[in-house]
Amino acid sequence: MAEIRIEGLTRSFGDVRAVDDISIEVADGDFLVLLGPSGREKTTLLRMIAGLLEPSAGRILLGERDITHLPARQRDLAMVFQSYALYPHLSVERNIGFPLRTARVPRAEIRSRVREVAGQLELDHLLDRRPRELSGGQHQRVALGRALVRDPQAFLMDEPLSNLDAKLRTATRTELTALHRRLGRTFIYVTHDQVEAMSMATRVALLNDGQVEQIGTPTQVYDTPASVFVAGFLGAPPMNLLTARVEAAGPLLTVQAPGLRIPLWPDSAPSRDVTLGIRPESLHRVPADDAATGERHPGVEIDGVVTAIENLGSEEVAWCDVHGQAVALRGPRPLGLAVGERTRLGVDPARVHLFDRASGRRLAWQQPAVRSAVTIPAGGPPVPPDPTSVAPAAASV
Ligand SMILES: Nc1ncnc2c1ncn2[C@@H]1O[C@H](COP(=O)(O)OP(=O)(O)OP(=O)(O)O)[C@@H](O)[C@H]1O
Ligand SMILES: [Mg+2]
Repeated sequence: MAEIRIEGLTRSFGDVRAVDDISIEVADGDFLVLLGPSGREKTTLLRMIAGLLEPSAGRILLGERDITHLPARQRDLAMVFQSYALYPHLSVERNIGFPLRTARVPRAEIRSRVREVAGQLELDHLLDRRPRELSGGQHQRVALGRALVRDPQAFLMDEPLSNLDAKLRTATRTELTALHRRLGRTFIYVTHDQVEAMSMATRVALLNDGQVEQIGTPTQVYDTPASVFVAGFLGAPPMNLLTARVEAAGPLLTVQAPGLRIPLWPDSAPSRDVTLGIRPESLHRVPADDAATGERHPGVEIDGVVTAIENLGSEEVAWCDVHGQAVALRGPRPLGLAVGERTRLGVDPARVHLFDRASGRRLAWQQPAVRSAVTIPAGGPPVPPDPTSVAPAAASV
């Protein structure tokens, strides 16, 4: 069993608590990605799991075994570093086989294991080369090979694809996912690249200020971000975050942002300042004909002026100025918008997110059952908000 349990793990550097009381359970066979911007303790956390850095407090369990204070080499974990160090004077074959030689594995077995791993990573034709005769991507694969050759209980990887060009990174990503499936081993993988996280992880843990901001499947963290930090980190461009307020108005609560009113279920919660989140792909352009008739769907359409267009290949992003706030709309190219143009943006109310302005935490909300005032976009009715995303009861709107 290679279940890894991290309990109350803490690490201070001087007076600064870098990793602050983190607890995570990584199930056997999970591919957990530790995701976060630069300097958010991802490497520090991984180094403690690997046994390269002593925690200030807390425990690390591998299956039933407490490995918190065990030397790195006794942990049966393989680590691939951000800056992989190969032995410059050894051939690729000897670099990959190095961990087996130190473990005194018989020579014939080393040879066959190295060849098997080299085959998996398409390094067979490079076995006699020295590291200086390899490209960056080949280097990286040799470093991976050296981790794979040992068949450890779990793999710890720190940005192993960071030095690859875009094409090789995509290919190696697919290869790593396949490898994970084939080996059935536990992976803990550090990256600040959300595409890597979303595409490879079975679960993602977002780190911020030394703590876990949210942990969940890629779908959960994207569709129901637990906080403004998560919402603003995931997505390209990330979620539009608008200053808004929830107000009791007649029988309904409405969330009000400049030029935008969205009705919510009546509730006894008080009015409050909120951050309204709308993903760029949740906005659609209201065709000019509809806009020209002057017919409005109150609360679900906003007017803006296009300030920039970004071509992403198959899609396009239009940046709009909406009452002084920058709002991105993302959709298939061409969107048919031009810089300087006035446009009306439609918002599917079921796809908006609400966060408490002060705490930044997600707020639970519901829409009125009667949707007469709501535009339902082509492609079917809106997806209701995920009930699992419900914030603590006290915080619900
Ligand atoms: N040995 C150390 N002594 C003092 N501070 C440290 C030490 N190691 C890390 N830190 C600090 O801890 C914080 C987290 O560093 P860490 O390397 O874990 O970040 P990271 O999330 O891996 O960032 P990146 O994405 O840039 O690799 C940083 O502010 C860093 O300066
Ligand atoms: Mg790092």
